[in-house]
Amino acid sequence: MNITFKIFRFNPDENDKKPHYHSYEVKTSPGMTILDALNEIKWHQDGTLTYRRSCRSGICGSCAMKIHGINRLACETQIEKLKRKTIVVDPLPGFKVIKDLTVEMDSFFEHLERIKPYLINDNPPPARERIQFPDQFKPIEDPVACILCMSCTSSCPSFWTDPDYIGPAALYKAYRYIFDTRDEGAAERIEVLDNRHGLWRCHTIFNCMDACPKNLKITHGISKLKRKVLAEKY
Ligand code: FES
Repeated sequence: MNITFKIFRFNPDENDKKPHYHSYEVKTSPGMTILDALNEIKWHQDGTLTYRRSCRSGICGSCAMKIHGINRLACETQIEKLKRKTIVVDPLPGFKVIKDLTVEMDSFFEHLERIKPYLINDNPPPARERIQFPDQFKPIEDPVACILCMSCTSSCPSFWTDPDYIGPAALYKAYRYIFDTRDEGAAERIEVLDNRHGLWRCHTIFNCMDACPKNLKITHGISKLKRKVLAEKY
């Protein structure tokens, strides 16, 4: 079946005054994904089309984009399941477009870096490893599965209105370490989160959970984090 892909195009290096949509026809087959269609366009119709992709397995998070109005992973989104003859593809909202479907990621990773996304524990490590039992791992099982695809932060209205807002992905990563029984960096992370561009900018809108391709309970984690900060600091 032939499907029309209306794809957002913008190349500031070639003096594009403003973004526009370009339409491409692709002959699709059952099981074909949006990423397969983009590859088909790039390899056989228009080599200038630019987008990120790597693993093709829903693991690296690099192919996140807005597909027919919803942030999704292109490599996990099957064309036939969208049930459309025309599919609109945009870059992730809220981030500066570098070219076509590629957005700048620096600000996202700067926010992430602020919450120190690594284990903090100055005690000498045991001979083999820092043990964690299954019931201790359970509370952080969900955030550990985050692939940092940026879909949640990009779908958050609080982030659209405040680019300094640390965003749901970084908050959920903070939750992952603060609730890790082996970590001792909670107090320093809470200092980073407890301000108007941090935890309290989240208004529990749930867009982040709707957008997450891994169905992670991001908003619930952020709410739990709020309760912890209130209990420990106020
Ligand atoms: S290409 Fe890695 S998640 Fe899609």
